[in-house]
Formats: sequence, structure tokens, C-alpha cells
Amino acid sequence: MDKNSKRYTVTTALPYANGPVHIGHLAGVYVPADIYVRYLRSIGFDVLFIGGSDEHGVPITIKARKENTTPQAIVDRYHSIIKQSFQELGISFDIYSRTSSPMHHKTSSEFFTKLYNEGKFIEKTSEQYYDESAQQFLADRYITGTCPHCNYEKAYGDQCESCGTSLNATDLINPISTLSGNPPVKRSTKHWFLPLDQYETWLKQWILEDHKEWKPNVYGQCKSWLDQGLQPRAVTRDLDWGVKVPLSDAEGKVLYVWFDAPIGYISISKEWAEQTGKDWKPYWKDADTKLVHFIGKDNIVFHCIIFPTMLKTEGSYILPENVPANEFLNLEGDKISTSRNWAVWLHEYLVDFPEKQDVLRYTLCANAPETKDNDFTWKDFQARNNNELLAVFGNLVNRTVVLTHKYFEGKVPAQNALNEIDTSVLKELAAFPEKIAKSIENYRFREALNEMMNVARLGNKYLTDCEPWKVFKTDPERVKTVLNISLQICANLAIVCEPFIPFTAKKLNHILNTSSKKWNEAGSANLLEAGHQLNEAELLFVKIEDAEIEQQVNKLLETKKANQMAAVKANPSKELIDFEDFAKLDIRCGTILEAVKVPKAKKLLQLKVDTGIDQRTVISGIAEYFEPEQIIGQQVSIVFNLAPKNLRGVESQGMILMGEDADGKLVFVSPTQKIKEGSEIK
Ligand code: MF3
Ligand code: ZN
Repeated sequence: MDKNSKRYTVTTALPYANGPVHIGHLAGVYVPADIYVRYLRSIGFDVLFIGGSDEHGVPITIKARKENTTPQAIVDRYHSIIKQSFQELGISFDIYSRTSSPMHHKTSSEFFTKLYNEGKFIEKTSEQYYDESAQQFLADRYITGTCPHCNYEKAYGDQCESCGTSLNATDLINPISTLSGNPPVKRSTKHWFLPLDQYETWLKQWILEDHKEWKPNVYGQCKSWLDQGLQPRAVTRDLDWGVKVPLSDAEGKVLYVWFDAPIGYISISKEWAEQTGKDWKPYWKDADTKLVHFIGKDNIVFHCIIFPTMLKTEGSYILPENVPANEFLNLEGDKISTSRNWAVWLHEYLVDFPEKQDVLRYTLCANAPETKDNDFTWKDFQARNNNELLAVFGNLVNRTVVLTHKYFEGKVPAQNALNEIDTSVLKELAAFPEKIAKSIENYRFREALNEMMNVARLGNKYLTDCEPWKVFKTDPERVKTVLNISLQICANLAIVCEPFIPFTAKKLNHILNTSSKKWNEAGSANLLEAGHQLNEAELLFVKIEDAEIEQQVNKLLETKKANQMAAVKANPSKELIDFEDFAKLDIRCGTILEAVKVPKAKKLLQLKVDTGIDQRTVISGIAEYFEPEQIIGQQVSIVFNLAPKNLRGVESQGMILMGEDADGKLVFVSPTQKIKEGSEIK
């Protein structure tokens, strides 16, 4: 790192205040950012660490409408949950504020005005849907209609959730306003656009040439945006929730949420300055300051292309030096989803696992989706705690401190002459801080965490090799050296673990009876003086039992069940059944031996099927799709224990399973490889 750089401004994506924070947010953004910042502070840099809630945008207004309340009530509720839970997890923001604050409205409004006055926007009038009875323009999310691609009837104006295509509201067939239930009309409306196309050459130079060191996932996404060519982007919306467009001819218009939210980083810095009596400007305008944005991958274009263009256009701000975006964290194999409640919510974790903030921080860092999507599982969480934090880290500290109390009344013994093992261990110890630092500075937090644990592994191996508990009887002088060195390793750990697991660092400092030390002291074998009195050993970690994990897994199962019930309710072609109901079905593999048309029934074929157990006559409604001679020898799945039924004068003894697509086309559901007739399907 360039040690001349004096100042850092570190921002974290402002979470939308329409739901609480979950482990995906934490692993992607807040835990890595907090590690980075704690490390920088330990080095002695001047850091401003910014967080806050993003309180504008259409989804918040939709949620408010659904709950029959105001957007302000929604954001008030979630802002306080989010703020409190971050604090309890030890995310060490200098300030956590919000975009509904007066300071933010003023700052973003002035930002817009400056660009407007300097003629940086282009004005365009376009046709947008308007709800005449609600008397307002409709955001795309407020319109539903039939998807032009798949004919799904409840597609949203911005996306069809059935086929996944992103849409414009004007693409929908038979659009309906969700506000009134009436078809909307088109009305022309004026908006202001940031002409990103005019900055393309500059962006290409600044990102693709000058910032080749950005993470490959970030660089790659930027490159693909830039290769496709940029279009002007509207920075205003017709909406009544947000920062009012500060122009006289802009009644009923607000700044687009992605225009105002990143300016939130600046307005929140100003608030911090007001509260602390400091000057905010150096953190945003001094070329010596390094601006770093921690975000998730869905935010890359906004932080790498749009916001920098806004800053550049404004002209007085520094640009980000890096944007270390992460990929996504999944939960037990499925995509985390707020609307499907498929998440581990931070505020709930803090209640379910009191005093275990560091276990979550550790697990999320160890699994951080730095280069690709990653998975969180409760089993892994348990294993990280039991096999790593407790068995490695906790074990080293506990053995060392307990032995020191046992042999030397808890006083740090003095070192005697060092042997080869000692010197090599101390040499290794001295190299760690630099290694860990390098990984952190390169945003490789998993690697850094692993190196930090290697310090504990080094200590454990040293103790195991030296066996002080055996040696004490014959050579107590030797044990003095071993425990001194082990204690120095523990004291080193207290420094280098602090960015990752700060609660543990604090406890460890208490056990060692020392105040917290700075990064540049790490590596030393003289952190604890001979004769220094330790406090009693206390456990840094406790075992997480299977039952605790099962409880969490069951909670997720309940969610799955609730979602499935909801899906069945929303699509009520059949009611939900228990496994017992399903298990009543006896389905077998069979082979069609004969097939003939049923007279005067254009849909029916009469089949003879070899079920391995008997030969059965089955009437099947497949005549429109298959010629009789074409299906002789076809393997099929047959419901074997279906009560016989008389159809057209013939007794049908079972049913052949068919797949049917939306157009009614039929295909056989049959084994992909030939299998003996009578084989069970289950
Ligand atoms: N609220 C956005 C999200 O959760 C992030 C906003 S980041 C900021 O995706 F830059 F706009 F603040
Ligand atoms: Zn569709």
C-alpha cells in the first residue's frame, strides 16, 4: 500500500429500507468492508466509513400501499432494525444515516441543480402510462399485463416473472394499472437524462486502461457494458416519493433513486462532519483521499459507470480508486430472496445466537463470494465454529493461558536461550502481519482470514511439538521459554484477528490483560513483558450443538413449506398433499404391446401393456398425438394401483403418465434407459 496516502473514504451500498439485512448483504458488502476499515484504522490511516439506508424507490411505495401505510412508516421501521443490527454485529461505521434526511434532500437536490444549470442534462419528452383515476404516472412496477414473449398474464411492466424477460411497460399486452385496476392511458412527460454516451471514451480510458487492477468480475462487467455502448439515462421519475426535482416545471417528479442514493454517501459524510465538528471536504475532494465502494454485483454499473460519470461531470469530486464488488451468497443451495423469505436475517441471528457475532463474521468471511457465487449452510457454520474457531484459535489461547496459571501463577515467564524450533517459529510469526496485510489490501479477505488462522495453527503446532506439560517436571526453565513464546503468539493474534473477529480480540485482550495494540506492533516477540500478570482464562468460543443447527434448518424447511403452500394457493389446480398421499401411488414401468384406435373416439387409443406382473388393457387419451403402430414397444410409466374404470364399454386397468405442455402436446413419461417391466417408479 502507498503509505503516503493519508485518507480513506470507504462506503458500503446503502441497503433499501424495505426489509431487514440478511447474510447475503453481510458477506457481499458489510463484513468485508468492516474488515478493511478496521485494518486501515489499525495501520493508522484516517478513515471515514459510511453507511446508511436507501429510503427511496418504487418498491418502498409498493410495500407501503400493500400494508396500507406510508412509505415513511416503512422506512422508519426498517431503518431502525437495520441500523441496530449492524451495530450489534460490530460493523464500525463512523455514521449510519439515511436518504430521507433533510441533509440528503438538500445535497442531492443541489447536485442536480448544478448539473442542470451547467447544461449537463438533456431533456426528452416521451409517452408514459398514466392512471386517470389515480391521477398519476405509473412506474413500470405498477403496471401488469400479458407478456408479449410467453403470454403470462400477470407480467410486471419491468419484467415478466414467468419467462424472466425484462420489459418496458409499453410492451405489455392489455396493460392494467395496479392502482385502480383500469387500463392506463399514454401521456407525454418530460424527463432529464444524463448523456452517458458522451462519456464513453473517457470511461473506457478510466476503467479499461487505468484500472486494470480492479477485480476481474468488476472489470469484466464494466467492459461488457462499455462494449455494448452507453445510452442516455433518465435521472428523474414521475413519482411522489423521493427527492423532488428542484425545477419549476417538474411538479410530481422526483430524482431517480439511483441518482440520489449514491449522493447519499456525500450527504451522510456531511452529516458526520456536522456531528463531529470535522470538515467533510477532504474526504471527497482531496486528491490524496482514496475512495473505495463496497457493493454487491448487482450494483456494479451504478458505482463504476453512472456515479463516477456524475462525479466527473460535477467536477469537484474525486473518483473511486476501487470498487471491490462481490458476487452473491446463496443459502443452502438456493438463491437468497427477501420476498420468499429465503434468508438468514441478521436481527434474528443476533437473537438466536447471542454473543456469537464473531462466528457469523468468521463464517461469512470464510465463504465470502469474492470470485464466484458461494453457499452458506448451517452445517458449515457449525463446523467453522467447532473445528476452527474453537478447536484451533480457542484451544491455543486456552492451553497457553491455563498452563501459565498452572506453572507460573499467571505471570508471563521470561524467555531463556532459544533453540532452533523457537527461532523458526518466531521468524514465521514475524512474517504474518505483512502477509495478512497484503491480502486485505488486495481485497482477498478469505485468504487474509486463513492467514490469520495460520498464526493460531502455528501456535498450536509449537505447543504440541514442545509439550510443556511433559517437560515441566524435568526442565521448568525450558517451559518458561515455550510459554513466553506461546503467549507472544496469542498477543499477536489479538492484533491481527481484530479486523475479522473484533469481539474475540477484545476478550483476548482482557484475558492477556493488555490494551489493544496497533498493526505495526504485530510480528514482535515482545508484546508481553516478563512478569506481566494475566487474567484468568475464559472460553473464547463454545461448541455449537447439533440441536441448535437443526433448529435453524427446520426454520428454513418451514419457509420452504410456506412458499410451496403459497404457490399451490396461487395456482390452485390441485390441493397440497402429504407424503403419505403420494406414497399411496404404485407406479410401474411397462411396455406397450398392442395399440388400436377406439371406434368413434378421436382422442382414445386402446393399449395392451406388459407391466411385468400382468398384461393390462388401458384406455389412453393420446390418439391425437400418436399413431398406434408408432408406439408399439414404447416403455411407459403406468399407475398400477388405479381402480379399474369402464370407458366406452372397455375396462381400463390403470393409467399411462404423459407430460403435457401449455399447447396440449403430449409426450411419454418413460425411463431414459430401458428397464425391466414391473420396476417401481418412486
Ligand atoms: N439500495 C441499493 C441496493 O440495495 C444500493 C444503493 S447503493 C447507493 O441495491 F450507491 F446507491 F447508495
Ligand atoms: Zn414472459
